[in-house]
Amino acid sequence: MDIKIYLNDKKQFVEDGLKRFMLEANGPFVQHIEAMRYSLFAGGKRVRPILCLAAAEAICKSKDQAEALLPVACALECIHTYSLIHDDLPAMDDDELRRGKPTNHVIYGEGQAILAGDGLLTWAFDLITDQRYNTLSAEQRLAIVQTVARAAGPLGMVGGQSLDIASENTDFPFSTLQTIHKSKTGALITCSVQAGAIGAGGSEREIAALVEYGNQIGLAFQIVDDLLNATSTTTELGKAAGSDNSRGKATYPAFFGIEETRQKAKKAVTNAIKALKDFDQKADSLRALAEYIYTRSN
Ligand code: IPE
Ligand code: IPE
Ligand code: MG
Ligand code: MG
Repeated sequence: MDIKIYLNDKKQFVEDGLKRFMLEANGPFVQHIEAMRYSLFAGGKRVRPILCLAAAEAICKSKDQAEALLPVACALECIHTYSLIHDDLPAMDDDELRRGKPTNHVIYGEGQAILAGDGLLTWAFDLITDQRYNTLSAEQRLAIVQTVARAAGPLGMVGGQSLDIASENTDFPFSTLQTIHKSKTGALITCSVQAGAIGAGGSEREIAALVEYGNQIGLAFQIVDDLLNATSTTTELGKAAGSDNSRGKATYPAFFGIEETRQKAKKAVTNAIKALKDFDQKADSLRALAEYIYTRSN
């Protein structure tokens, strides 16, 4: 399969979904909604929604059935975008460029940026549970809400972000670095795959295998983010290169150097593909996505 074509098609499908579902900027909260839309439509690879859809495809009998996961996929992108807005705030990573554009707080101010993040996070759950768009059963929706809330919350992404900033410029063991990466980035990636599997009506065994796949690519994703931060350029990334080093961040290259870090990312990708051994060719897009996560340039 051609992963470039797959990514382009799926990205367009997700963009169309976001445009269809997202609140319009009008009414009394126009400024707030504008700030939410600014970051949501600033670009982005849409990796998490694509993973959710690809996981559903690996299980579903028909394409239509997998496409029913679109509202969930879009909700995951909203949560991811919120996390980026907050991650870039002066009190966190203090970045002024994201997705090739000025960060949310640079345009709207810190107060509105914090609220844009809050809005995207909470609205995501509105979207997952909105009966107008959803053909999933109430049970599936409940399971997805819980999975997503757990992954995004204090024992997942938010906890990881807390540990990430608390660890700046400190000495810490490798186990802490692993915890940071698995939680700040891995948790939402794993839950994207898991939500797709739940929505597709996967068996316990299928869901467990896909969770293992998600854990491995989630780790690989953040290792590659560390690598790109150390080796690429701001223009290529659309966000500040070299910032991890200057902020004293916990990263794989800081622990292992560039070459060993590359090998570790590759190993995680190999493990991810192994976790799919019981799936047929319907999981080929997941296999190709794992490779893409390793070879991506931004
Ligand atoms: C960047 O995520 C932040 C991390 C969790 C590493 P992406 O690399 O998916 O960013 P976008 O969505 O494409 O901008
Ligand atoms: C971002 O991690 C993780 C989340 C937003 C949850 P980083 O701070 O390492 O990612 P970038 O490099 O700013 O995208
Ligand atoms: Mg950060
Ligand atoms: Mg950051």
